[in-house]
Amino acid sequence: MDIEHAKIRIEELRKAIEENNRRYYVDNSPIISDYEYDQLMYGLIALEKQYPELVTEDSPTQKVGSDLASAYMDGQAHVTPAGKEEREKKEFEQYPHRYPMLSLGNTYDITEVDAFVERASRGLGGNSFTFSCELKFDGTAICLTYRDGRLLRALTRGDGAQGDDVTRNVKHIGNIPQVLKGTGWPEEFEIRGEIYMPYKAFDRLNAERERDEEQPFANPRNAASGSLKLLDPKEVGHRGLECTLYHLLGEDLPFASHDEALNAAKEWGLPVSGKRKICKDVSEIEEYIEYWDAERKFLPFATDGIVIKVNELAFQKTLGYTAKFPRWAVAYKFKAEQALTKLISIDYQVGRTGAVTPVANLEPVPLSGTTVKRASLHNLDQMQLLDIHVGDYVYVEKGGEIIPKITGVELSRRGNDVTLPEFPSRCPDCGTILVRDEGEAKFFCPNTDGCPPQIMGKLVHFISRKAMNVIAGDATVEQLFRLGMVRTPADLYDLTKEDLLRLEGWKDRSAERFLKSLEASKSTSFEHVLFALGIRHIGETTAKSIARHFRNIDALASAGKDELLEVNDIGEVIADSIIAFFSNERNIVEIARLKAAGLHFEMDAIEQDRTDILAGQTIVISGNFSISRDEMKAIIEKNGGKNSSSVSRKTSCLLAGTKPGPEKIKKAEQLGVRIISEADLMGMLSGGTPAAPSADVTETTGESAGEEAAVSAAEEPGTGKAMADGQLSLF
Ligand code: IVH
Repeated sequence: MDIEHAKIRIEELRKAIEENNRRYYVDNSPIISDYEYDQLMYGLIALEKQYPELVTEDSPTQKVGSDLASAYMDGQAHVTPAGKEEREKKEFEQYPHRYPMLSLGNTYDITEVDAFVERASRGLGGNSFTFSCELKFDGTAICLTYRDGRLLRALTRGDGAQGDDVTRNVKHIGNIPQVLKGTGWPEEFEIRGEIYMPYKAFDRLNAERERDEEQPFANPRNAASGSLKLLDPKEVGHRGLECTLYHLLGEDLPFASHDEALNAAKEWGLPVSGKRKICKDVSEIEEYIEYWDAERKFLPFATDGIVIKVNELAFQKTLGYTAKFPRWAVAYKFKAEQALTKLISIDYQVGRTGAVTPVANLEPVPLSGTTVKRASLHNLDQMQLLDIHVGDYVYVEKGGEIIPKITGVELSRRGNDVTLPEFPSRCPDCGTILVRDEGEAKFFCPNTDGCPPQIMGKLVHFISRKAMNVIAGDATVEQLFRLGMVRTPADLYDLTKEDLLRLEGWKDRSAERFLKSLEASKSTSFEHVLFALGIRHIGETTAKSIARHFRNIDALASAGKDELLEVNDIGEVIADSIIAFFSNERNIVEIARLKAAGLHFEMDAIEQDRTDILAGQTIVISGNFSISRDEMKAIIEKNGGKNSSSVSRKTSCLLAGTKPGPEKIKKAEQLGVRIISEADLMGMLSGGTPAAPSADVTETTGESAGEEAAVSAAEEPGTGKAMADGQLSLF
């Protein structure tokens, strides 16, 4: 290729890579496989190698893909609604990494591993050394800092130079210790690793999301990364995330090798994989790769390759780093398993929100332990991109996803009898002309109030566990709808026992149980009722934020766009959806009927004051306070904290009143557990600011920020000014 053409191709590749970086790292919804992405990157590397004069500092070959939304702000025009929702959730403080957080050079070619070994040997001038071979966990990178044996901060990789502070969320991940055990840890060190979601938790989460008509995550990696950046730390705790750590960093570490360092980390209670192996040459490395390429299918979590690292720390130092990678490590990546099968037909399914999804019916084919018969084709764009025809032989891939996807067409096997699929212009269920909003990948049936799968889908969503939690199966709802007895959720509350007894197979007991469950659902909290209404783009977490912000439905219904945009989780897409919902007269009537039936459309007194300022904090109280100890415990719980009776390494702080128990104080001092006063706690609660841990801020000044001596404002050392929201730290 001549230089002029190379210039054009380089630009195209850079654009495509940046776009896919954004989809992968920020939106958590990639549209190409890792393999396809890597091919783009290899293409760019090859051209830049051929024309070094065309290499620029900001080329994707020279920097790591950033998980910071701000890195892609000029790409807004292409943002998908799903991506927008993801981005609107990200509001984290950013902190610089002490050591740059780099990525790994990777290859799918085993001979490249040999080349790496050779390069390393050459670089180390014939000295003998070993390799640590490890699983490459498919999750999202995390950097944990421990100081004095306590977890101080957790940062995402970000752009490698600075990352998002996700400490509050990380504290809800079960296997990350907040306090180390044993002795001998460095006063301060960093340990890096991967947050991942085991298949079981992933399947559970996606099943829930699909039922609630939220976009399912494409794979466990995206699910882990999306979950880590949720705004509600308690919700993070429910996602079943896990962590594995694989890289210890610090000044003057007392270890000769990487393996020794990780063994020590394990002794301190940190989660380190036991599936590592020290190999002395290429043949041992290859043996390890071969073993895990077969065995990984039985692991309960996703792995996408093997990482091979020079084990001796002194030699790692000798080899050093490029701008993007360590020269002492390389990743060998596994190709996702594929199967080739015939596309028999395509169904077009209409969901609760009216979105139309093409689903492929396939000739059954075995793939990674299950038989695949159906696969998602996502949307029209995807079908056109694949140039898919009915009757084609297609490649299906799973690679961690529960819904297999079609990744390509085997054109060499295309027969003469294939037909070009016709995406319907009308709703396959109700015949209404489909519409596609600007920026949306999917077509929608706009007949929200008259299209049967939409009506039924809304009813099923309304009664679901996370919404109104009415004990009834989807079949009951379908039966009630088909018989014309129920069209909207409010109709459910008009049902009588006589109505139900007219249904086939219903007896006194089943009817009574259903009515009782409906009655009980009337005490469902406002945030759940709001979620149950099924307003487009409003998931469980967003419903919670909205309920807490507006407190009642009337305030929400009358809010203008600017007011809506003030809420944490709300961006343009959600604000527009709320406004559209309340401009529909039918929804207003429906809400009035549900109100009359007795459902909660405002926060009750307890909910009103509930906060998660103390989320993730375990607090021990001791001594006397201005209120009773039971009242103090209730306050802690109401603000998301946990009470505990004895001081241990797991205790976040000891709340000491007058005459605290000397034993508790002694124990807290011994373990380095922070001791705070009633004024400290109250100040923090009245400040309404989350207890975000901060590396630089461990002192409390007792200074007031408006409220006399009540708010313990944390100061940025050296600046003397109170830190911004979210950084007030007592723990
Ligand atoms: S070592 C200096 N070890 O894969 C880089 N990384 O594709 C040190 N990863 O950025 C990284 N398992 O996020 C290392 N056993 C392992 C890993 C691992 C997964 C991730 C990590 C890295 C990415 C590169």
